[in-house]
Amino acid sequence: MPYYRSVGEIPRKRHTQFRRPDGGLYAEELMGQQGFSSDSSLLYHRHLPTAIVAAEEHSPPAWSRVPNLPLKPRHLRTHKLDPGGGRDAVLGRAHLLANDDCRISYAVADQPSPLYRNAIGDECLYLEAGAARVESTFGVLEAGAGDYVIIPTSVIHRIVPVGDDPLRMLVIEATGHIGPPRRYLSARGQFLEHAPYCERDLRGPSEPLLVDGTDVEVYVQHRRGWTRFTYADHPFDVVGWDGCLYPWAFSIDDFEPITGRVHQPPPVHQTFEGPNFVVCSFVPRKVDYHPQAIPVPYNHHNTDSDEMLFYTGGNYEARRGSGIEQGSISLHPSGFTHGPQPGAPERAIGVDFFDELAVMVDTFRPLDLAEGALACEDPGYAWTWAAREDR
Ligand SMILES: [Fe+2]
Repeated sequence: MPYYRSVGEIPRKRHTQFRRPDGGLYAEELMGQQGFSSDSSLLYHRHLPTAIVAAEEHSPPAWSRVPNLPLKPRHLRTHKLDPGGGRDAVLGRAHLLANDDCRISYAVADQPSPLYRNAIGDECLYLEAGAARVESTFGVLEAGAGDYVIIPTSVIHRIVPVGDDPLRMLVIEATGHIGPPRRYLSARGQFLEHAPYCERDLRGPSEPLLVDGTDVEVYVQHRRGWTRFTYADHPFDVVGWDGCLYPWAFSIDDFEPITGRVHQPPPVHQTFEGPNFVVCSFVPRKVDYHPQAIPVPYNHHNTDSDEMLFYTGGNYEARRGSGIEQGSISLHPSGFTHGPQPGAPERAIGVDFFDELAVMVDTFRPLDLAEGALACEDPGYAWTWAAREDR
């Protein structure tokens, strides 16, 4: 995270005596990235954050991935996945697409997740529908439809659906850190004037949770597998913390689109960067206003990227006639030239506003298909540009 935050009680100087009302010392926990050479936060626990009483190997639901062969553009209808009730947003994820840098999943949840720590990398949650309370050692984040929530690596948290409707989420699990694009930040991390969002648009936890409890299970996802720890005391026993590393939320509705006289390329939509991938937001906006402009994208071949687009609201003009619907995902891989569906450029001429909402993940290595993708694929999508009547 680019800026400093302080929540709850902390002592005047770091690494000095800070005592509980009973006279004992609070236990410090420094969470820091890149070998004590990047962002960190210092948390103060009532109990030792090191005290585990059991560790058991855990087998998550099996999954596997296959290459996108034959190489094709793909259309996944996530709403056709039928996860049933009784699932949570961590262990109940349907894995869709993956490479060695990230894994993209879809979750429909109506149950609280267990306490969970992803020790592999940051997670970016995008809430398509429903609402959630994301509880962590840092406090609470309330999130609703349209919110991105970034959970830094190894933050112990749980996701609790709130309200009557199930929580629907796109999940991007990275193998490193996710943050704002570097080009939008000053040398000291402040958002620059040309950034499409800034500090005022970000939300962080504002007060500690102060949960008491003993023998608390935490599921840990590690590069070598999963383990279920039992902690002697509840990890959410933090009385205060400060620093620049914490879970945070940002609403896609606060992304200010960058527009132009002629069609702007996808980097104007970039919202986050991760290891070997970027996340972009396509939001309702005034479109290209040159008198001769064609507002939809031109056919293009993004030679070094696979492009995944999650359609999460409005109407995506360039895809009309392709079967794309709410909750759809398109995958346009490198090695394939893609563009608007037939007729879309003509239809778009003279239009001055697009009511579309979509989240894009462009990866710099090919995305494989996981079982969840194969289970909800629309097999006709690859042929929709040819518009043959006999297909
Ligand atoms: Fe594209």
